[in-house]
Amino acid sequence: MDELPEQSDEEDRLVAIVLAAGMGTRMRSGIPKILHHVAGDPMIFHVLGAIEKAGAAEIVLVVGHQSEQVKAAVGNSVRYVIQEPQLGTGHAVQQAIHALGSIPHRVLVLCGDAPLITDSSISKMASDIGDAAIVLLSANVPNPTGYGRVIRDSEGRVSAIVEEAHATEAQRAITEVNSGFYCFDGHWLAANLDKLERSPKGEYYLTDMVKLAVSQGRDVRAFATPNAEEVMGVNDRQQLAEVDRIMRARFCRALMANGVTVVDPATTYIGRAVSVGPDSVIHPGTHLRGETIIGERCEIGPNSIVIDSTIGNDCAVFASVVEGSYVGDRVAIGPFSHLRPGARIASDVKLGNYAEVKNSYIGENVQMHHFSYVGDAEIGSDTNIGAGTITCNYDGRRKHRTKVGKGVFLGSGTLLRAPVEVGDGAVTGAGSVVTKDVAPGSLVFGVPAREKTTNQGG
Ligand code: UD1
Ligand code: CA
Repeated sequence: MDELPEQSDEEDRLVAIVLAAGMGTRMRSGIPKILHHVAGDPMIFHVLGAIEKAGAAEIVLVVGHQSEQVKAAVGNSVRYVIQEPQLGTGHAVQQAIHALGSIPHRVLVLCGDAPLITDSSISKMASDIGDAAIVLLSANVPNPTGYGRVIRDSEGRVSAIVEEAHATEAQRAITEVNSGFYCFDGHWLAANLDKLERSPKGEYYLTDMVKLAVSQGRDVRAFATPNAEEVMGVNDRQQLAEVDRIMRARFCRALMANGVTVVDPATTYIGRAVSVGPDSVIHPGTHLRGETIIGERCEIGPNSIVIDSTIGNDCAVFASVVEGSYVGDRVAIGPFSHLRPGARIASDVKLGNYAEVKNSYIGENVQMHHFSYVGDAEIGSDTNIGAGTITCNYDGRRKHRTKVGKGVFLGSGTLLRAPVEVGDGAVTGAGSVVTKDVAPGSLVFGVPAREKTTNQGG
């Protein structure tokens, strides 16, 4: 009984076919083109992100060249179709269309090598399809070299797309180019794809579907994006650098619109999943990557790298590297500190010059000012970690934990041979090598460290 509504859900769903099987010859690369990074992520991630944001229910990725590498990087959020051999964009869609369980009204076809595409342009194509056979995204560009040209009739209706290689001189002068992003009437596409003929170059061009639709009296619409940059395809390393620059500028603009100061967008590298709170200042030479969250009123950089980390409010990260870490409020890091994965830093901590922390909890108000290593440890609040303090957490075979209590004073050059525990309020003398647990409130010194009792004097 409820079959009818289900069927219309199927018919209404938005599906996307993403073309990514090409050789990418002009990249001269050992890795697939769509895995080359743009703003810190494989360029295909940006395309898939825009498609998901536009509300696509299903994505089919057409792969061919080095498909195993692509699958390993992209994972199983998409369906894969192998195109082998690669006989052109029309041939690629022929392979993909059969992979769709049922064919819906709206089928998007998108290029995997144009990462600046926005979700709003994808949504607009999908919402404009109406009873047209094809809606395509075009752009008016100053230099159309390399792109297919959009041919319009005397009334301005789209009549064909002509590839650069087959264009007449007059057609080459046209500056409205085809982006390689389309929404098709899925039923029409499926019924007519097999009518494509091989081009003189031996390929099946998807772009030939335009004149086919027109010859059948079907409507083809092209809308020019107001933001021509978004159609830029990456075919070589020069275009890769150009697209990367534009993408980074876009992410910096988004932060600035939210009240973040980006001192020099040209030398600031912000990833797509990064958020920064208002009144934070990002200084030049800073890279924020992965799933990174920065709070309000922070100073990040110059020359800092923060990856997959959360940093609270009012923090400073100066010429330092923070990876896979959690940092509370009012923490000062650097210069030249390194927080490695699993570092959890409570509020009001100072990590100074050359501090390294790995897989450790550092309690509130801990001072760790000069060249120290804390690994696999727990440090209580208000503890002072003297210059050159090191947790010797590795015995050559296994890692061991160190526990230091609250309000401890670790003298300069203290070595803590794990597993070991230092009680609350204890003190270690300069150069102590602590091999045994230290009782709360006691003072130890020497090598190996022993407790100072009253009759030892001094
Ligand atoms: C294509 C369009 C052109 C448009 C341009 C926009 C055609 C014939 N031409 O040209 O009108 O202006 O994109 O960037 O469609 N691919 C496959 N299988 C193949 C061949 C290509 O999956 O057999 C994929 C590629 O990996 C790439 C996309 O399709 O992601 C476009 O192919 P590419 O060779 O780069 O086409 P262009 O020459 O740029
Ligand atoms: Ca291309």
